[in-house]
Amino acid sequence: MIEIGSEEPGDSAAIQEVHTKAFGGPLEAKLVRLITERKKALISLVTVSEDSVVGHILFSRVTIANSPAAFSGVGLAPVAVLPKFQRQGIGSKLIREGLERCRQARYDAVVVLGDPAYYSRFGFVRAADFGLQNEYCVHDEFMVLPLYDRALGGVSGMVKYLPEFREAEC
Ligand SMILES: CC(C)(COP(=O)(O)OP(=O)(O)OC[C@H]1O[C@@H](n2cnc3c(N)ncnc32)[C@H](O)[C@@H]1OP(=O)(O)O)[C@@H](O)C(=O)NCCC(=O)NCCS
Repeated sequence: MIEIGSEEPGDSAAIQEVHTKAFGGPLEAKLVRLITERKKALISLVTVSEDSVVGHILFSRVTIANSPAAFSGVGLAPVAVLPKFQRQGIGSKLIREGLERCRQARYDAVVVLGDPAYYSRFGFVRAADFGLQNEYCVHDEFMVLPLYDRALGGVSGMVKYLPEFREAEC
C-alpha cells in the first residue's frame, strides 16, 4: 500500500536516494539537503511503500518583484519518484496533496518549472500570461497556479527561488 505523509526524522537518506536515482545525478538531492538542513522547507511530503520512501516533494518560499507585502508565493521543486515506481500515479498524488496543503496553509500561489503537458493536469498555467518572469530563461515551462480567484492581482515581475537553488548548482 502507498501512503503519503509529512517527511519524518530519519527519512532524509532515503529522500536523497529518491532524487539521485530519479534525476540521475546529485543536483536535486543537494538542493533538498540544503533547504531542509536550513529549515527552509515549507512543505515536505513523502510517499511510503512497504516502509520505504519511494517519492518526495518539496515546497519552498519564492519572492516576486511586484507583490503586496502580505503575498505568499511558493515554489514546487523538486518532485521525484524512484524510477521503478514511476507511472503509477505517485507523482500526481504527491503534487495534489502538496497543493492541497498549500491551500490549507493559505499560500497565495505556487510556481513550478517543468513540462507544461504534465503540470497543466494540476491546473498550472503559463506564468508569463500573468507578467511573471523567471531566472532560468524558460518560457512555457515556467508555470503558476493561483490558489484562489484573483490571487495574482497586483502581482508581477521576476520570481526568485531561494538562494539555495543557485548554490546547489555549484
Ligand atoms: C515527474 C515524476 C515525479 C512523475 O512521477 P510519476 O509517479 O511517474 O507520475 P504519475 O504516475 O503521476 O504520472 C505519469 C504521467 O505523467 C507523465 N510524465 C511523467 N513524468 C513526466 C515528465 N517529466 N514530463 C512530462 N510528462 C511526464 C507520463 O507520461 C505519465 O503519463 P501517462 O499516465 O499518460 O502515461 C517522475 O517521473 C520523476 O521522478 N521524474 C524524474 C524527476 C523529474 O523530472 N521531476 C520533475 C521535475 S522537478
